[in-house]
This record gives sequence, C-alpha cells and structure tokens, in this order.
Amino acid sequence: MATELPTTDSRISPSLIRQRKGGTPLVCLTAYTYPVARLLDPHVDLLLVGDSVAMVLHGHQTTLGASIEMMIAHGQAVMRGSARACVVVDMPAGTYEDSAAQAVGSARRIADETGCQAVKLEGGVDMAGRIAAIVAAGIPVMGHIGLLPQSVEKEGGYKIKGRTNENVAALVADALAVEKAGAFSVVIEGTIEAIAADITHRIAIPTIGIGASADCDGQILVIDDMVGLTVDRVPKFVKEYADLGGVIAHAAERYASEVRSRTFPGPAHVFSSKNTSGGDDA
Ligand code: KIV
Repeated sequence: MATELPTTDSRISPSLIRQRKGGTPLVCLTAYTYPVARLLDPHVDLLLVGDSVAMVLHGHQTTLGASIEMMIAHGQAVMRGSARACVVVDMPAGTYEDSAAQAVGSARRIADETGCQAVKLEGGVDMAGRIAAIVAAGIPVMGHIGLLPQSVEKEGGYKIKGRTNENVAALVADALAVEKAGAFSVVIEGTIEAIAADITHRIAIPTIGIGASADCDGQILVIDDMVGLTVDRVPKFVKEYADLGGVIAHAAERYASEVRSRTFPGPAHVFSSKNTSGGDDA
C-alpha cells in the first residue's frame, strides 16, 4: 500500500543526483499518474514522466504522439503523488529542436506548470546547445543518448547503438557533449553493454542505463513494462517483476461472472434503509 506522503518538501535535487556518481546505483522508474507516483515515491531516487506515456497510457505507436500538454498534465499528477523523488519531465519531440529560444520556452513552461525538478531531452552533440541554454536559464537537464525513441521513424526502427566503430565514436562524443553542456545526468538507452560501461567511466555525471550496462550509475525502466501491464511488445531489456496484467484480467473475469450471476453486489455493497449507522457516505 502507498505510505503517507511526507508533509515537508524533502525532495532529492538534481545536484544530489549528480553527486551520486560512482556511488550506490540510482533507482529510477517512469511514472505517469498520481497513484503510481505515490506507490513508487518511497522506493526510488528519481521519477521520470517519460514521453513513453504516449505509447503506454495513450496507445500511440511511438513517443511522437506525446504533446507538451500531455507531459504537463502527467507531470502535475506525478508531482501531486510524490514528495521525495526527484521528478524529471520529458520534453516531447517538436518542442526543443528548432532553436535555443524554443527549447528554453518549452522547458520553462514545463517547469513552471508542473513544479518538476528537471527536464529531459534526447540528443548529444546536435542538442548540446539546447541543453546549455536550458541550464543557463536555471532549469536542470537530464540528457538522453544511444537509442533515441523520438528518432525511431527517421532510423526505421529501434536500433541498438554501439555495434560499429562509427557508432561508438559518435556515442562517446554525444556523452562528452551532454556532460560539457551542463546536464546533471544522462540516460543511455539500447547500447552495447561494454560501450555503456566505458562511457560511464569516461564522464563525471551519472549515467542511467536502460538496455545498457549494470556498470551504469543507475537504472531506469518503464513502470508498466516492469510490472507486467504492457499489452504490446516488451523490449528484451525489461525484467518483469510482477504480472499486474494477469491480476487485472483475473479480477475482471471474476467480476463479470459475479455480475452475471447476481452475486455482486452482495449485502455488504448496498445501502439498507434499516442500517444508518454509517451515515450517508459511500
Ligand atoms: O520516455 C521514457 O520512458 C524514457 C525512458 C525509456 C528513459 O525516456
């Protein structure tokens, strides 16, 4: 069950995350809703309101279905449901690539309207200027390199990175550029294990792996994948720690059977005129 939310604001800050380089691995998960944020908050260091929400909760084929309004609404819900974790909200595709001014405007809107601690954006060398501009505006940034879901249409699929020498050099350059631009941490996604480990040892900011390496400074998974709620394909790098999909299907099956046999609602679930001790509240 969810624990009580702490009453004081004792959130883990991006600079605290930054200081955890090389220490106990950082525990990160995505969250999109108030109840799930409440359940996860006591256990994690960082909650990412990922643009994966467009696929996971809204049924889009790719993360390109995410809008800034969608990210803000889910960011607000996760902020309401958490008090301890550092909350990072993804900048959706189309909200930061055009110019530094566009990137700062979008980041400021997300930060102001959600109260989140940081934003995340995808890209390395090509997006370093956007990261530097957002950081200069006072908003902490988490980078994201390797497999970039926002580029999946351009790349023709979810392609693992670091298989060729060219790929490796570009990945290292991306990691160094993101670090130099002032990001407080960087997600490394879908990258050959040894390359992700090597990058982790080369840069001074924490690396957060997903389909990367146990040597990364932290790990992140999409919450719905991790608890068995994803109805479509689950990537190879996911470990399912629960089967909530099976639990929901079983509950729905029992409910359907009890409604059809008129065993639900039972006496405990209806209001009798004889018993008013509980007042009128449901
Ligand atoms: O959108 C997302 O969930 C992400 C994680 C996969 C890191 O970016």
